[in-house]
Amino acid sequence: MTGTTDHTASASSAARAAAESDGFLKDIWYFAMHGRELKPGALQHRTLAGQPVLIGRTKAGKAFAIRDICPHRGVPLSAGRFVDTDNQPTVQCPYHGWRFGTDGVCKHIPSLYEGQDMDASRISVTSYPLREQQGALWVFVPSDLRRPAEPAEEPPLMPGVGDRPARIYQKFQLNCHVDNAVIGLIDPAHGPFVHKNWFWRDETGMKEKAKEFAPVKNGFCMVAHKPSANSKIYTLLGGDVKTEISFLIPGVRIEHITAGKHHLVGMTTVTPEGPEKTEITQSFFTTNPVLNLLAPLFKPFMYHFLKQDADIVNIMQEGLKFDPRLMLINEADVQGKWYFSMKAEWERSRAEGRDFRNPVPEKTVLRWRS
Ligand code: FES
Ligand SMILES: [Fe+2]
Repeated sequence: MTGTTDHTASASSAARAAAESDGFLKDIWYFAMHGRELKPGALQHRTLAGQPVLIGRTKAGKAFAIRDICPHRGVPLSAGRFVDTDNQPTVQCPYHGWRFGTDGVCKHIPSLYEGQDMDASRISVTSYPLREQQGALWVFVPSDLRRPAEPAEEPPLMPGVGDRPARIYQKFQLNCHVDNAVIGLIDPAHGPFVHKNWFWRDETGMKEKAKEFAPVKNGFCMVAHKPSANSKIYTLLGGDVKTEISFLIPGVRIEHITAGKHHLVGMTTVTPEGPEKTEITQSFFTTNPVLNLLAPLFKPFMYHFLKQDADIVNIMQEGLKFDPRLMLINEADVQGKWYFSMKAEWERSRAEGRDFRNPVPEKTVLRWRS
């Protein structure tokens, strides 16, 4: 892409247009947590895309997600506990003891007397589709809580690693809207400034890059390439190394590295909680036994990296309080433009009840210095 037109675009106006509502995509899967963070018998509250969700795991090990608001008086059900009702696990509200199944249906109202004309099973809370795959819990957030759509597709799978769970995992809270977090995630130009590290690179090593991009399902990818020569860490992986980086809406970045016959996948997820509250997580999966063994040694580097991103976003938020007009420039910010056009198309396609038509162009070479 060499065009010189459209050098600026307003990220804030795009965000504002979407912010008629909250600017969060619906009818889509969000990464919630890793399954190992949810022990059998646990009930946890999460706010996902502005919705209160109870994520629980029965003592038998089945994970589920239901709306975390008791329909009686609004107490979060996650403040309750598991009790069995007719040999089935139910969540008991701490206020008046109403019990809800893992499907969200009310199974018992203790205050009802024998023969009273009220059918508890007509009361329910939204049940959110949940998948536990590769050790990760994904929750489908519908746009209409009364008539939740069934997911038309499954959550993303990390390539090449089979059913292995993540070996290492890290998360941070960002004080910004998810759009700003995503833009930061797919922004190639901040690396030399934000991630100045002895083990990575700095601005003195900036080089011109030209990368080829193509659309993929619900996103785009930077076509497989040999990592830039100035990324020292890749040399540690040895052999014939190839990297493919993809970004999928609502906010999942997958860095798939193949080294010989082995795979290393870095998954970064950005999950909106509230208007200025976003969780960013990073997980590594690998089939390489040596890397698996050494993985904990990389955790401090990973923490350092992610913290650098979190710190700059939190500093940025100081400026964003004044609601400035922002820019997306060619060609370093073209991925950011694609993000906003994919979001807009996702919403249009849901409203029109049709398939998502990926607006990312067939083949694009983007150039920038970083
Ligand atoms: S508020 Fe939950 S049972 Fe009354
Ligand atoms: Fe970064």
